[in-house]
Amino acid sequence: MIRKGRFASELNEKVAKFTSSIEEDIRLFDADISLNKAHVKMLYEREIITKNEYSVLLEGLNKIMEEGVECFDLDPSLEDIHMAIEKKLTQIVGEIGKKLHTAKSRNDQVATDLRIVLRHEVKEISHRIDSFQKMLLEKSKNHVKSVMIGYTHLQQAQVTTLAHYLLSYVSMMDRDKERLEGTQKRINLSPLGACAFNTTSYNISREQTAEELGFEGVLENSIDAVSSRDFILEVLANISILCVNLSRLVQDLILWNTQEFDYIELPDEYCSTSSIMPQKKNPDVLELIRAKISSVLGGMFSGFSILNSLSQTYNRDLQEMTVHMWKGCDITKEIIEILYEIVDNSHFKLENMYGKAKNSFVFATDLADFLVRKKGIPFREAHSLVGSLVREMIDENMIVDAEKIYNILKRKADVIISKDEITEILDPHQSIESKDVLGGPAPNQTSTYIKKRKER
Ligand code: ARG
Repeated sequence: MIRKGRFASELNEKVAKFTSSIEEDIRLFDADISLNKAHVKMLYEREIITKNEYSVLLEGLNKIMEEGVECFDLDPSLEDIHMAIEKKLTQIVGEIGKKLHTAKSRNDQVATDLRIVLRHEVKEISHRIDSFQKMLLEKSKNHVKSVMIGYTHLQQAQVTTLAHYLLSYVSMMDRDKERLEGTQKRINLSPLGACAFNTTSYNISREQTAEELGFEGVLENSIDAVSSRDFILEVLANISILCVNLSRLVQDLILWNTQEFDYIELPDEYCSTSSIMPQKKNPDVLELIRAKISSVLGGMFSGFSILNSLSQTYNRDLQEMTVHMWKGCDITKEIIEILYEIVDNSHFKLENMYGKAKNSFVFATDLADFLVRKKGIPFREAHSLVGSLVREMIDENMIVDAEKIYNILKRKADVIISKDEITEILDPHQSIESKDVLGGPAPNQTSTYIKKRKER
């Protein structure tokens, strides 16, 4: 209907479908109605439309809102939701409907709608992060003494606890939330009134509509207001970082579910079997989370590419960013929710974790530190002595045992530490207790962290 003046022909069907944003715009429906209501109220108060026109428009908009987007003719030839609403309004209230678009453009309108919906999406993602953190804190409470091996280079490194491991994600997710909160401040500014890019000669109040729509303020420069999408880039970057953080947990769970690790029993509902190998319990859901995270990253790259070198001001390219934004937000919300359920319903095989820790060389650093403290050997020397002890034990296929360690140390360096002392060093629980430094794995530290976090 907007082509009528300028063009002799309508868009052909294929092009209409190609260019229309109406499907992505469905999510903007509520925001667009609210925007229109705030706009016509302001137009009336600024004496740009009459009282009667205002009440007719308002009534029509309320009616559309009541009927909901379901009753809409989402005809792609209408281009977008803004045109669809205007058309519907005009059908309901007649000629007065054609006044709706006074002193606004779809350029400021879509930028405003996007911000209204996105601020809600960001809040929703933050809530989900919050619940995920709460679940991890709750879980960690029961595992401050659940010993497991910590890895560097995916090689057995030192003893830690399951709580210490899980809490690392609570800390990471704090930053994920902070980033989103920072972005929220920049999202929550109103572009409305910037019109096509140049504001308008009508005596409008941008401040009034901004306040009415719950914005913190006005996005002042009108060129910036219609053309900037860096708020979308920020969200895409933030959720990408969040997803990449979570992907590391996902990857560890996949590893822990292998027979080789055997640290975890995933809930059956989140696994599938093989169509040929009946023994298989495949972590398909985790694998799909891993792959879907790639789509979020892909969306981020697409968003950056669309905005890259785009000349000022509004270009239709911007419409395509919306697609990546919704997709990214949807995947992120879904991932957090499903991963929550997986972690919450998984069975951690604590005995296996303990057994692996007990029969590994993860005691080596503790032994070297002991030699430094009790025997006055410089650390570098102690490191080399324990290294050669480990090599010998591996070469001789020895299992980890206090007596053997005692004999080797005595022979190699004439170092006498009692068998009891060695037994204590080999005890994973003692190893944990000894690392009572801020942020460390000692139950005292992890419990304090959990308590502090809960109070917050
Ligand atoms: N559907 C468009 C978008 O999402 C709305 C703005 C259209 N503006 C224009 N000048 N064609 O960006």
